[in-house]
Amino acid sequence: MQTEVIVVAAGSGTRMGSAMKKQYLPLDGAPILVRTLQTLAACPTVHRIVLVVASEDVPYITELIEAYYLSKIGDVVAGGRERQDSVRNGIAALLHDTEFVAVHDAARPLVTPEEVEAVLTAAKMFGAATLGVKVKDTIKRVDQGQVRETLQRSDLWAVHTPQAFRCEWLAEAHMRAWEAGYTGTDDASLVEWAGYPVSMVEGLYSNLKVTTPEDLVIAEALWRARKE
Ligand code: CTP
Ligand code: MG
Repeated sequence: MQTEVIVVAAGSGTRMGSAMKKQYLPLDGAPILVRTLQTLAACPTVHRIVLVVASEDVPYITELIEAYYLSKIGDVVAGGRERQDSVRNGIAALLHDTEFVAVHDAARPLVTPEEVEAVLTAAKMFGAATLGVKVKDTIKRVDQGQVRETLQRSDLWAVHTPQAFRCEWLAEAHMRAWEAGYTGTDDASLVEWAGYPVSMVEGLYSNLKVTTPEDLVIAEALWRARKE
């Protein structure tokens, strides 16, 4: 069963506010993107990686691949304006005989091979699956500074990547969403919208997305703690 991972790394990292794009900032001495790619390449069931980057970064990426001996990268393609556009470009670069695909944020370098394997296994059983964690905070819906609703915390999960799918489900959902102008902040939401069931796989709180400067401090501490 051929499995590929699309790694989306074509964002501009606005919320990080750093001079260098966040996916290239160092995590314990190597770029975040490199940490992410090394973990994915270490997963036995991942055959090939499609890397999506900003077109102006392609020369730098080529250097990184050589410098760090990154393996399994089958294609490097240009990203789009929104994350969803970048994933769509990645889908176009998948091999025709690939049956399962995972989509992963470059900005989640702390994902473990065990989490990747768990979400892929669930996708192979049920067709679509996402990693996530139970929310720890109480979540309220707020409108114009007023609390409108307090949600039932026991039903709520914060969603991570990778998210894994039967290739046809993801490709169909993205194509239909693009045609209909439907947008979502993750791939599972497009697959849900297309009418397919998505399973939840409980992941680790450590699989955070490096988004704002404090995430970088936490990610560094978690990474170092793992090495001890
Ligand atoms: N991404 C992408 N193409 C885009 C936007 C985002 O490939 N047009 C990628 C990012 O590089 C990141 C992942 O999608 O690995 C998750 O996005 P996010 O954390 O929002 O990253 P950015 O969009 O770069 O950050 P920001 O929203 O703060 O600008
Ligand atoms: Mg973004």
